[in-house]
Amino acid sequence: MPSLVVVYFSATGATAVLAEAVRSGAAGVIEASALRIEGSDILDGRFRNERALERVDAADAVIFGSPTYMGGPAAQFKAFADASGDRWSEGRWRNKVAAGFTTGTCPNGDQSYTLTYFSVLAAQHGMLWCSLDIPGGRDEQRRNRLGTQVGLATESMNGSIAAEDVLAAEHLGRRVALLALRLAMP
Ligand SMILES: Cc1cc2nc3c(=O)[nH]c(=O)nc-3n(C[C@H](O)[C@H](O)[C@H](O)COP(=O)(O)O)c2cc1C
Repeated sequence: MPSLVVVYFSATGATAVLAEAVRSGAAGVIEASALRIEGSDILDGRFRNERALERVDAADAVIFGSPTYMGGPAAQFKAFADASGDRWSEGRWRNKVAAGFTTGTCPNGDQSYTLTYFSVLAAQHGMLWCSLDIPGGRDEQRRNRLGTQVGLATESMNGSIAAEDVLAAEHLGRRVALLALRLAMP
């Protein structure tokens, strides 16, 4: 069976709530786990957790998550991404399915740039980017309130994630898992 890993950073817990919802949505379809990037993984500005990178090596699908900080991913996530450079040169993440999610305290706090960064990171690795596929503003469950399509952008209010954003995160995990399952079929 294919496997999926959610790789994310969260300082105050909002992104962690989304990460668990994404993992849970995927786990209904394939094997799914979460990998939280910790500040202690980073020494002298460099991400040094080789075992974490090996978990990504072993997965068929990877979903990236980070809060939006100053219009982009948090530095901790970027340190992880930079450490994937060796994998890039070896093509080790090629053809894995990839997707992303983020949160911010503003409804239009430039979360799209974080998602765009994730998609470019995936493209650098030759991964297969999976969009969100929930029509913004038209969904009966009010998922995808912010209306992004490249991935899931949310607005965390007072540090909490809205129930409809949790539903959207579960949807994203399930969608990526179904795609990974389809690609694994002979
Ligand atoms: C340094 C810093 C920069 C931030 N920049 C943005 C931003 O550009 N846009 C936004 O909407 N929120 C921004 N925020 C708010 C965070 O994205 C928000 O608090 C988020 O919920 C944090 O996620 P976490 O609880 O998973 O750590 C920023 C927060 C910090 C600490």
